[in-house]
Amino acid sequence: MEPIMIAPFTSLLSHSRFFLTLRSQEGTYHSLILFRLTPESLVSAKDGSTYTEGVSNGTNPMFNQIYVMESSCPHLGADLSHADIEECESSIIAVCPWHRYDFDLRTGKSETGLRACTYAVEVKPDPIDGIDKVYVETPAGGTGWRLVELRPVSEEFADPPPRPAPPLLPVIAALAVSESTIDEPVVPIHNPPTTLMQWAVLILNTPNPTLKVQRTREAVNLFRTGKLASIGHKSPNAPRPPDIPPREENFARNTVDPAKVKNRKNRAVMLHALANIEQWAIDLAWDIIARFGPSHPNVPPAFFSDFTKMALDESKHFTLLTSRLSDISPSTPYGTMPVHASLWESASVTSTSLRSRLAIIHLVHEARGLDVNPGTIERFRKAGDAESVKVMEVIHADEVTHVTSGHRWFTWVCEQEGNVDPVQAFREEVRRGWRGDVKGPFNVEDRGKAGMTREFYEGLKGEMGMPQVNGRGPLDMKPLQDAVASVGVEYETQ
Ligand code: FES
Repeated sequence: MEPIMIAPFTSLLSHSRFFLTLRSQEGTYHSLILFRLTPESLVSAKDGSTYTEGVSNGTNPMFNQIYVMESSCPHLGADLSHADIEECESSIIAVCPWHRYDFDLRTGKSETGLRACTYAVEVKPDPIDGIDKVYVETPAGGTGWRLVELRPVSEEFADPPPRPAPPLLPVIAALAVSESTIDEPVVPIHNPPTTLMQWAVLILNTPNPTLKVQRTREAVNLFRTGKLASIGHKSPNAPRPPDIPPREENFARNTVDPAKVKNRKNRAVMLHALANIEQWAIDLAWDIIARFGPSHPNVPPAFFSDFTKMALDESKHFTLLTSRLSDISPSTPYGTMPVHASLWESASVTSTSLRSRLAIIHLVHEARGLDVNPGTIERFRKAGDAESVKVMEVIHADEVTHVTSGHRWFTWVCEQEGNVDPVQAFREEVRRGWRGDVKGPFNVEDRGKAGMTREFYEGLKGEMGMPQVNGRGPLDMKPLQDAVASVGVEYETQ
């Protein structure tokens, strides 16, 4: 197959493994994992074996130690990003974290008889600029392949630990969401979750945002490293997610009609508002897993890999934003300003259809984020706030991959429904589940990276009929307030 250029070789020296997503012009996705096995000592050595740009002529020994394979294990679909690598006498093997099957990185062969799909890699100097670039064979069954994601896989989780909260005046402390309010362990002592479904529902029912972040990290780590008994979505006893994830009391008290949230745009208000959205976004990622996994038993494991990655990203964003907020405005920590829950309004509207959920949450709301983030970044830049700019740039790059996941699984659902045209299906879903125009101006470039070409969204208007309040449909906050006290979770046994 025609190879695709992945990156200059030097860009791959920062990490030893990378996650790649390719999309064909027909809309097919493939996720691959690239292992760069060169020992760090060789990368940084100052002797003749060190890599030096422009003099290798394609012959550096490090070039032969790059391997690429499909990221889903051919046994039951585990994400191989966290596979162990073992060097044997004549082969190098990746050991799947779920059931420890081995796969030869060169041939894909396993002693079990299964075979993983591997892709040829070549490093050669670019004929125009002479820079050594890495090319990877493309998958069969598609044309016009494009690299839509190249993400280092960190062996350590990139999510920074929450910073200790600065001392607060007593009156502010009473208002804020404080870490001191956590009196539950990350892993419940009684009836700890054993499946991904159980973790998802536990996290959705966790009102404290710091604990929600900690549990998200724990669950994703257990899932990726094969320490969960199963995903659990095929079990008749899979737990049900709550209609509205509970919030802490002060947070629910501060939750108001979106029209009443002040339009004042100082940096602290912006950071607080963005952190609120991220807290809902963590729940949305777990909700799509818990709500639609059981109703779609044929959904492949890659679906869960994508949405657990999304949950982890959103928790990282939440921590970055709340840490930044406490740095620049210690008197207004997270939880002290009015917030809204309008994102969950769309979650409720789409709670019975995966196709509709992917369209409205991931391809309308999240794609809108791609449009507005550059403006937000610019405002922070103009205010001279370089740290917040960095935070927003991390968030924006991740959000492109989230819209990509939305497009990938929306396209998958359309295929399952008999090769329905994704563009027409999306436009139908928006007309049914959205009110008013799908607003621009659009970030055409970043939407395009995520697979959202113009024909998806241009000239599109939602026709969802709901009573209007201040130009928006009303969100009944009573269930949220009632849910505040719902902290304990009981699981049905498998
Ligand atoms: S060995 Fe990989 S999923 Fe079972």
